[in-house]
Amino acid sequence: MDVFSNPRFAGIEKFKNKVWLSSPTMHGDEQKWVDDAIQTNWVSTVGANINEVERLMAEYVGVKYAVGLSCGTAALHLATKLAGEKLYGQAKPNAGTLAGKKVFCSDVTFDASINPVAYEDGEAVFIDTERDTWNMDPAALEKAFALYPDVRLVVIAHLYGTPGKMEEIKRICDAHGALIVEDAAESLGARYKLNGEWAETGSLGDYNAISFNGNKIITGSAGGLFLTDSKDDADKVRKWSTQSREAAPWYQHEEIGYNYRMSNIIAGVVRGQIPYLGEHIAQKKAIYERYKEGLSDLPVQMNPFDEEKSIPNYWLSCCILDEEAMAPQVRGERDYLYKSESGKSSPQEILDALAAFGAEGRPIWKPMHMQPIYQSHAFITAEGNGRGKSNAYIAGGGIDVGADIFARGLCLPSDNKMTAEDQDRIIEIIHRCFE
Ligand SMILES: Cc1ncc(COP(=O)(O)O)c(C=O)c1O
Repeated sequence: MDVFSNPRFAGIEKFKNKVWLSSPTMHGDEQKWVDDAIQTNWVSTVGANINEVERLMAEYVGVKYAVGLSCGTAALHLATKLAGEKLYGQAKPNAGTLAGKKVFCSDVTFDASINPVAYEDGEAVFIDTERDTWNMDPAALEKAFALYPDVRLVVIAHLYGTPGKMEEIKRICDAHGALIVEDAAESLGARYKLNGEWAETGSLGDYNAISFNGNKIITGSAGGLFLTDSKDDADKVRKWSTQSREAAPWYQHEEIGYNYRMSNIIAGVVRGQIPYLGEHIAQKKAIYERYKEGLSDLPVQMNPFDEEKSIPNYWLSCCILDEEAMAPQVRGERDYLYKSESGKSSPQEILDALAAFGAEGRPIWKPMHMQPIYQSHAFITAEGNGRGKSNAYIAGGGIDVGADIFARGLCLPSDNKMTAEDQDRIIEIIHRCFE
């Protein structure tokens, strides 16, 4: 579609500077701490920046220990490995700690949440999503434990900075003696009221991870943290992350190691960002609220959250089109087609229009159970087995909330450097898509 010759979009100008989905926002302190590392020659995976990031973030999240790692994926890998070792014992060097074991996993998330299950030779079983927060559905998790009572590990992510239903999920996990790996990569700064007490995401699981990837609420360009209240667990992760050195004068190894430690340069960037976390959250919240107001006359809803039990960090603003407002849209494995219809639209049509004007949106993370690599894995919904639900001889099919949110939802440009005028233009473009 050439939007500039399309009368539907008449009078709207292209953005001079691209409006990003979510890009790094630097303030100046980052440079100071990077320079400090270079001037003091701590250009390594040891140094004051790492120590400070660990101290400040443990204090912020409300856990006793934080271990600085190269990325959130590394934090999730070691969290998942540790859970596997706690549950099933130490693995041989050529085997994962979850070999032969199933693990219940969030379905609508970025694949880094759940790939560590495969790194550890486990088998992810995907749990469908609920509509109230777009996170793991406790009812589907209950069904999964009924189907696979031996499972002892659950990996849960808080999508787009919105806390999931942790109270219910923790109750179910406790009842089944299962441990939780909490992926708070997207939700740093989001809070949740657990049994009446406010707590930060990143402190709610047995093993917790956050990310400082370039698109996150604060960033080091890369980096992540493993968070825990257990000194033993923190010490173990620190050891694994530095090639598993034993206490000997030479390189001595009794278990498999990794080169996953955070760099003191990266930590300098993170250290400079930490004072601005609150400011970034406030900016992202204002963006969410402006979209909510500006799109309120359209047949769309914003990504929902539990107003009583959670305060999101509003990392990404998203919306979902009402069913009746969906124009035809089909997606293959790599490409898509859609049709414009008056009064209706579709995520791909809106994303194309935004892109043509220079604004970056994104489809909702494609559910893991729909990914070609995981298509042979079980998928459990609130009704039970979510695979093979249609029947050539019977009308109707099963529920699949994740697939539905993927089909009808989209992530809106959510960069905290976007001006109110930029956002008004984005809101106008979206309105024109429905004309
Ligand atoms: C939900 C989720 N988990 C894990 C990660 C991985 O973090 P990293 O990129 O720091 O490895 C990301 C994002 O990158 C994410 O969005």
